[in-house]
Amino acid sequence: MKQAGEKITCLTAYDASFSSLIDKAGVDAILVGDSLGMVIQGQASTLPVTINDMIYHTRCVSQAKQRAVVIADLPFMSYSTPVIAAKNAAKLIQLGGAQMIKLEGARLETVRFLVEQGIPVCGHLGLLPQLINQLGSYQVQGKTVADAQRILSEAHQLQDAGASLLVLECVPAALAKDISEQLSIPVIGIGAGVHCDGQVLVLYDMLNISISNRPRFSKNFMENSASIEDAIIAYHQAVKQSLFPSTEHSF
Ligand code: KIV
Repeated sequence: MKQAGEKITCLTAYDASFSSLIDKAGVDAILVGDSLGMVIQGQASTLPVTINDMIYHTRCVSQAKQRAVVIADLPFMSYSTPVIAAKNAAKLIQLGGAQMIKLEGARLETVRFLVEQGIPVCGHLGLLPQLINQLGSYQVQGKTVADAQRILSEAHQLQDAGASLLVLECVPAALAKDISEQLSIPVIGIGAGVHCDGQVLVLYDMLNISISNRPRFSKNFMENSASIEDAIIAYHQAVKQSLFPSTEHSF
């Protein structure tokens, strides 16, 4: 799709009913994100989410979809070594039905090891929510020249380590554009501007049903939609046509 210039659409889901709706709407990929800690469990961060939580929700999602690719997050501290990562990724695949796993940061040795075991890996750079206790707050990353260069270099390193996909979260649109143009693997943005190869949003944010305030980079797709199905289709079409995100949803 990247080579053909077709934007890739992705939404998070955590249960069978939403998984089926998203799948039927034609969305390309479903991310079972550890954001479930916040939107499903009501936690203050993603840190309390366990591998068993992820297996349970991944299974709910994968059982209900027909065609969308299911990507599942490795949660906090479930990939502290390559072998631990492989054991937990195997659980997400064998018990949860995930087709690809996502992990945060430039964990190059771990990515290489997972890929060697035949596990497709999605990297995640920019804002890394699992580092919230080091970061202090959820802020845009890559604003200084040095930070932008570090993220660009890590993106290349993840691709070289064998990652098949990269999520870029909350980075300036210009940086995301450079990374998307330079990498051959698809780059999926969230708060990363319109020039990424695709977009992902947290489902509950774009349906405007999250407990917390909707982040600036998200959009309430229920506003002009008669149903949840319509809102998901509106998102899918807006991404395919590069109408979302606009500058008001970008940094
Ligand atoms: O957990 C999640 O939902 C994510 C997205 C924000 C990309 O990682």
